[in-house]
Amino acid sequence: MQTVDQLGALRSTLETWRLAGQRIAFVPTMGNLHAGHHSLIRLARERADRVVASVFVNPTQFGPNEDYGRYPRTPEADAEGLRASGCDLLWLPSVETMYPYGAERTVQVRVPQVTETLEGAHRPGHFEGVATVVARLFNQVRPDIAVFGRKDYQQLAVIRYLVRDLAFPIEIVGADTRREADGLALSSRNQYLSETERMQAAGIHACLQWMREASQAGLAREAVEAGAIERLSAAGFVVDYAAIRRPDLGLPEAGEGEAGEGEAAQGGAAQGGAGKAGAGGSGARVALIAARLGRTRLIDNLEFEV
Ligand code: PAF
Repeated sequence: MQTVDQLGALRSTLETWRLAGQRIAFVPTMGNLHAGHHSLIRLARERADRVVASVFVNPTQFGPNEDYGRYPRTPEADAEGLRASGCDLLWLPSVETMYPYGAERTVQVRVPQVTETLEGAHRPGHFEGVATVVARLFNQVRPDIAVFGRKDYQQLAVIRYLVRDLAFPIEIVGADTRREADGLALSSRNQYLSETERMQAAGIHACLQWMREASQAGLAREAVEAGAIERLSAAGFVVDYAAIRRPDLGLPEAGEGEAGEGEAAQGGAAQGGAGKAGAGGSGARVALIAARLGRTRLIDNLEFEV
């Protein structure tokens, strides 16, 4: 595996591969890689001739009171894990390479609507930071495909809208969430949890399963959401949201009870479509939770049919 930290070196290697007709897959990350990331690399490996991963802890997607400073940085272990999973090239840009004129003077990419709810409502500016850095990374790497985890469900939807609206010729692939034996989704932030919090944390997946079962049993969306908040709070979580949405993550008021239009009827933005959304009637749904245990904020989701 080659490691490069200069744009010129990145471009010349990628150009050699392109001239040889090789298909390039890209996995952007913020490092501190775990088994979930390694499975993204392996999926990329199956879909392309060459795999590029980036490790960049992007300052612009963290709020002023968030964990940018203490976000775990483990460069040696990351490089070793990437090599073992089949990555060909590690792109390791500095903050100066990514934002040469300063982050505040960089063109911002804003994806409307889908970013205004859920994570977007609780983390102002987060998705502008994500969309901006991902657009920049896409232009640097110019991959044929890019792989993102479905654990960051709303992020995946945002990336799909970004690619659609800015006409990036990139196929976006969503990869299934990897979990611990008790259901906790793998995340770099799990290591912030104390021993007791780690045991409590499995309650998020259990609650998502309850939301699925309650929805399938016919409980109204509002009742499921309220029930989930009650359960999580009783289990010691401070809840940001517990929500049921159609997979395109449209606001429920936009199409409550309607089947949706166009691609949304077959699956929403996080699955590859776009369109109107509500959470009434039958069809595909996603339950999403964001909740805190102490200083650790966890997110997870579960897709299901009603
Ligand atoms: O999911 C992440 O790790 C980050 O949000 C991403 C996509 C690498 C952008 O910084």
